Amino acid sequence: MKKVVLVYSGGLDTSVCIPLMREEYGYERVITVTVDVGQPASDIAQAEAKAKAMSTEHYTVDAKNEFAREFCFAALHANGDYQGYPMSTSIARPLIAAKAVEVAKKLGATAFAHGCTGKGNDQFRIEVAIRSLMPEATIHAPVRERNMTRSWEIEYALKHNVPIQQSLEKIWSIDENLWGRSIEGGRLEDPDFAPPEEIFQWTKGTETATPTVRELTLSFKDGSPIAIDGHALSPAALIIELNKIAGEHGIGRIDVMEDRMLGLKVRENYECPAATVLLKAHEALEALVLTREERRFKKLVDQEWSGLAYEGRWFDPLKDDLEGFINKTQLRVSGDVRLKLHRGACQVYGRTSPWALYSEELASFDSTGFDQRLSTGQVQNFALQARMFLHLEQKLHGGHQ
Ligand code: ARG
Repeated sequence: MKKVVLVYSGGLDTSVCIPLMREEYGYERVITVTVDVGQPASDIAQAEAKAKAMSTEHYTVDAKNEFAREFCFAALHANGDYQGYPMSTSIARPLIAAKAVEVAKKLGATAFAHGCTGKGNDQFRIEVAIRSLMPEATIHAPVRERNMTRSWEIEYALKHNVPIQQSLEKIWSIDENLWGRSIEGGRLEDPDFAPPEEIFQWTKGTETATPTVRELTLSFKDGSPIAIDGHALSPAALIIELNKIAGEHGIGRIDVMEDRMLGLKVRENYECPAATVLLKAHEALEALVLTREERRFKKLVDQEWSGLAYEGRWFDPLKDDLEGFINKTQLRVSGDVRLKLHRGACQVYGRTSPWALYSEELASFDSTGFDQRLSTGQVQNFALQARMFLHLEQKLHGGHQ
C-alpha cells in the first residue's frame, strides 16, 4: 500500500490534504503527524479528532521539552531575532519536520505532504529539513502545487466530508508554540489597521495590564534560564510560567512589517511574553560577563545565526560552526538577573554573576586600586592618527574643505 506522512496541524490547509492524498495523489495509507510544541491542548485534540473522523493513522508527538531546550534556548543563546521578531514560528518548523521524518522512518515511508502555501516561509523550512534528514524523500505540497484558494479549499472540504466548522469561524491565521503566538491575515493584512484587542490571547494591553509592579529574579546557567524567583523549573515549564507572568503585565506584543524569504512584505503580529523577558535578561547577563570584543563580535555571529534560523536552515554546517563560538561564550552566562515588569515595560535593575568582569574596586569613584595617573600617557596618545590627519589637513589646505 502506498503510504504518505502528512505534517498535520488540523487546520483547513492540512485537512484538505487528507482526501487529496487519497484521491488525487493515489496514497491509500495516510499517516498524520501532529507535533506538540506547546500549541493549545484544544488544537491538538481537534487535530486528533479530525484525523479520526477521516480515518488516518494518527500520531501525536510531544516535543515540548525538546523544543524548549534545544530550540528556544538555542535561540536565546544567540539573542535570536529577525526584524524584531524572536522567530517563534521559524524555529519550530525544523523540529516538526524532524519528528515527521522519525515517524516515517519507523513506518518505512518516504513520501511526505504538508499544507504550506507557495507564499510563505514554511515551505522552505519544512522541505529543507525533511530533505536534509531523508535525501530520498518525495514531498508533496498540494496547496502550492494546485495554486489553491481558500474558497476552493472550503468547497472541496465540504464535498469530501472534511470537518471544517472551526476553520470557517476563524478570522485570523494563528500559529502557536511555547516561544510565541503569530497572528496574521484578515484585516491585519492592511498595515495601517490597528490590531484589535481580540487577536491577543497571551498578553494584556498596556491599559488593561495589572497595575502593580512585578519584581522578578531569573537565574541562568550556561546561558539558559533555570529558575524563576529561586524556583527551579524544567525548560518548558519555565517558559509557560513566564508567558503567564509577563503576559499579565502586558509584555511581548510585537507588530512588525516582515520581509519574508520570497521578498514579500507581510504585516505580522506576535505575542512573545516569555521570549521578550528572557532575551532582555540574557543580554543583560552577557553584558556583565563577556569582554567588549566578545560582545561586538557576538553581535555579528548572532545576526548570522538568526538569518539561518529564520530560513529554517537548522542543519546547516554554518549554524553548527557559529554555535561553536556561541556555546563557548555561554559557559560564562550564569548568574541572576532582576527585572521589573510593569504595564508593557520590562526593565533590568540588577545582575550578578560569578563571571562578572566588573570590579567595583576598579570602577568606583572612591577606589584607590586604580592609579589614575597612569592614564595620562594613554590619553595623550589617544586617536593619534586621526589627530595627525586633521593637523595635516590644516597645513596642506588651510583648514576643512
Ligand atoms: N512570518 C512568520 C514566520 O515566517 C510567522 C508565520 C506564521 N504565522 C501565522 N500567523 N500563521 O516565521
